[in-house]
Amino acid sequence: MSKFTKRKILIGSASAYLSLCLFLFSCGNEEDGVNNESRSKDLGDNRLDEYVGAATCAECHAEAHAKWEESHHYHAMEIPGPGTVRADFNNTEFVHYGITTKFFMDGEK
Ligand code: HEC
Repeated sequence: MSKFTKRKILIGSASAYLSLCLFLFSCGNEEDGVNNESRSKDLGDNRLDEYVGAATCAECHAEAHAKWEESHHYHAMEIPGPGTVRADFNNTEFVHYGITTKFFMDGEK
């Protein structure tokens, strides 16, 4: 085989390899697009722009929801009021570093 022919084969196979790479790469991209499209169709409109609330999650995550309701995370987010605040707000007072702090209620607040 002449040097010239060897070179031709080398260039030929290199460009074939490059074309194959480009082909596979572009196919991969197309596939991704199709998959994402069909995925979002299956799930409905997954771009919710509103607060769905914990009850929505509890439909599927009942066990996790029950545990969460007993947690400090849940209680920390409760609306403050006589039934939820645990500290004694019945006109209690304490002094810390010379500063007197009073805990009291103003009506329901
Ligand atoms: C229609 C049923 C459904 C609803 C409603 C739902 N989930 Fe899920 N959730 C799942 C499933 C199924 C998985 C497991 C997915 C997986 O492993 O691929 C999951 C996984 C999760 C995970 C990951 C858990 C882990 O261990 O990796 C979190 C966090 C989560 N959900 C939070 C929520 C929250 C918060 C909500 C409410 C806004 C919610 N989910 C609503 C079905 C649901």
